[in-house]
Amino acid sequence: MKTLKHLFENNLDWANKIKETDPDFFSQLSKQQAPEYLWIGCSDSRVPANEIVNLPPGEVFVHRNIANVVVHTDLNCLSVIQFAVEVLKVKHIIVCGHYGCGGIEAAMENTDHGLIDNWLRHVKDVSRFNAEKLEGLAHEEKVNRLCELNIVEQVTNVCNTTIVQNAWKNGSELSVHGWVYSIRNGILKDLNGYITSQEQLEERNRTNMTR
Ligand code: CO
Repeated sequence: MKTLKHLFENNLDWANKIKETDPDFFSQLSKQQAPEYLWIGCSDSRVPANEIVNLPPGEVFVHRNIANVVVHTDLNCLSVIQFAVEVLKVKHIIVCGHYGCGGIEAAMENTDHGLIDNWLRHVKDVSRFNAEKLEGLAHEEKVNRLCELNIVEQVTNVCNTTIVQNAWKNGSELSVHGWVYSIRNGILKDLNGYITSQEQLEERNRTNMTR
């Protein structure tokens, strides 16, 4: 007996439905992928990259982890960014967080969550950098504000990778976006426009507009 039979059935239905409208869909896509977007999002099951922006397979290159964190030395995330930028030549990197993020909420607590607390340390850092902005907020508001501040911080981290820095130096057209998604209504929001150059990044850091 095949385990998780219903998932294989779902898969057949899904593949057949696509082939009904476009018989060559999979054979064409198997030859190459040419996505324009790299999506860096949260692992949360309620925030699936392709579905949210209603794009079919082949359109979005995806990296997800808990609380959509871009750590300077995370070889997993850096490898994804490098492949996306240098090989696939994506035009846009989207860091997408979401309100009500459990990872962000856990990072605000002082309880023991096990190994993951080491990962969430990065979110605690964001909270520390922005202590004034979070002071006095009620719990839910504070979680959601930290979700936004975390996205802004991770956008900066993406921009500061050697990969994005080199792409800009070489004159590549590459934008880094910070978006937030609401699991309550399914709507995406652009947090503060996008960054397309080193000058723009520095200007934002100077005026503190990104925080
Ligand atoms: Co989350």
